[in-house]
Amino acid sequence: MIILSEWVKACTVDQVKEGHLFGFVHGTKKILLANLKGKIHATDLICTHADADLSTGFLSEEGVRCPLHLSVFNLEDGKPQNLPAEIPLAVYNTKIDGNEIYVEV
Ligand code: FES
Repeated sequence: MIILSEWVKACTVDQVKEGHLFGFVHGTKKILLANLKGKIHATDLICTHADADLSTGFLSEEGVRCPLHLSVFNLEDGKPQNLPAEIPLAVYNTKIDGNEIYVEV
């Protein structure tokens, strides 16, 4: 089976300033954008442990911290750094074109 991906427009660069998180929905996908030191990362928006919106969490050098039970997810590979979450977040490619941020979903 071939799984096709597509680049979708997520938001403008101004909407995810350095140190900020931004959540958006594309069809059935819920995606988190995070700007860590000027680099845009994209992961799943919903924590893999329970139903928590990571865009309301906290961003630090270690990654994004879930607001509910405080697991931290690495933004490069989506892996949780501490319990209770054990399942990695999916991560997505991003690109910037002009003033727009695109995510490959
Ligand atoms: S819901 Fe995120 S760590 Fe529990």
